[in-house]
Amino acid sequence: MTLLEIFPSLRSGMPSPRVDTTVWPCETHYDDLGRITVGGVALADLADQYGTPAYVLDETEVRRRCRAYRKHFPNAEIVYAAKALLTKSVAGWVSEEGLSVDVCSGGELAVALAAGVDPRRLVLHGSGKPFAELEAAVAAGVGRIVIDSLTEITLLSALVSGKQQVLLRLSPGIDVHGHPAVKTGVTDQKFGFPLGSAAAAEAIERVLRQPNLELVGLHCHLGSQIYDPDHYGEAVRRLVAEMARVRADYGPVLTQLDLGGGHAVAYRSGDAEMNLYELADLIEDALDAACALNRFPRPRIALEPGRAIVAHAGVTLYRVMTVKHIEGGRTFVIVDGGMNDNPRVALYGAHYDAVVANRHPTGPHMTATVAGRYCEAGDILAADIRLPADLRPGEILAIPCTGAYHHSLASTYNGVGRPPLISVHQGRSHELIRRETPTDLLSRDLG
Ligand SMILES: Cc1ncc(COP(=O)(O)O)c(C=O)c1O
Repeated sequence: MTLLEIFPSLRSGMPSPRVDTTVWPCETHYDDLGRITVGGVALADLADQYGTPAYVLDETEVRRRCRAYRKHFPNAEIVYAAKALLTKSVAGWVSEEGLSVDVCSGGELAVALAAGVDPRRLVLHGSGKPFAELEAAVAAGVGRIVIDSLTEITLLSALVSGKQQVLLRLSPGIDVHGHPAVKTGVTDQKFGFPLGSAAAAEAIERVLRQPNLELVGLHCHLGSQIYDPDHYGEAVRRLVAEMARVRADYGPVLTQLDLGGGHAVAYRSGDAEMNLYELADLIEDALDAACALNRFPRPRIALEPGRAIVAHAGVTLYRVMTVKHIEGGRTFVIVDGGMNDNPRVALYGAHYDAVVANRHPTGPHMTATVAGRYCEAGDILAADIRLPADLRPGEILAIPCTGAYHHSLASTYNGVGRPPLISVHQGRSHELIRRETPTDLLSRDLG
């Protein structure tokens, strides 16, 4: 029992601990009972109402991030990368904030269309787009398709009856030194065509020969969690030079330059993140210089942030199942979720922090590792973090910065259904996606 539980009156005299809003949603506070609230709702109440694990998403924070991009890049098109997190509501919020949407499958396309996103504001991506998905995209009238292979040019030219705008994805040979699984700007990887290669030249020639395809620009995506804006400056220089070469060799003046996404966010206090002021300045300067050098008219820049729009808006709630002190080893806090709802630790070696959400952590601390419930030794959520030494089963742990690539990467390993996604906004909660149940799992098992 803590001192606060014995003498609750002490609470009013205590300064509220501050949450780090570079990691948590801006509207995160401690309430009078010492509980964490996001968007005006106590996380412990959400855990009681919707069960755990549960993803919580702060609508205000998503909208705030969209507005930050629009403010910093007033002349650019901001295209939300839906792979980070897509539901009908999320698609609706980002569209209302003036963003376009990048989809990379027939499933994402269907959700965006169901949300009422204007198809002309959709960009279709994918390194191996199935024919049926290209067909669905063309039928829906998606604005642009990003061509990733020669095969796709053949398929598209057979499919399109009117005129389809396309971008060509190039890998500009820029190494952002990230995790190997997310390095996409280097040439030896599966996406697009290496800049300056024979394959890239052949792709450009083939697209330009198709009367029903209109090549409007170039695209690149350098990787993930990039915090050094210089990489984008270099991409601008290389791709504007390529646009000038296309004009010189073939005639058309390309008008769009899509620099992809990959802007870093802080997962834990002190982590580096992309500074949007610096990125905007750097892109502008690089564009001025490259266009002057190549005597090329300024193309319209597009940016495709996914993580940077939704990561900080998300918090995942878990209930503590047990606390295990291993003799001569670590202390494990086992929770009721894990690698199914957050595979990023196992996939990329990502690091997270967890905090107790149902009370003020006032007493002594312990170092513990938060582990999941699944049958894998690597099912870890947060290693060697500080937690209250008196943490008990039944308490609620919250892991911030889980809005991106958590819900969208979740699995049903061990036959456990995926968590619900709950939005919070101005003191209210709303279930955007319900919890997956054993009945859902059985509905796909046809026997
Ligand atoms: C083509 C493309 N654009 C944008 C993104 C979004 O990246 P991030 O969420 O890191 O901003 C990705 C992520 O893989 C991508 O492949």
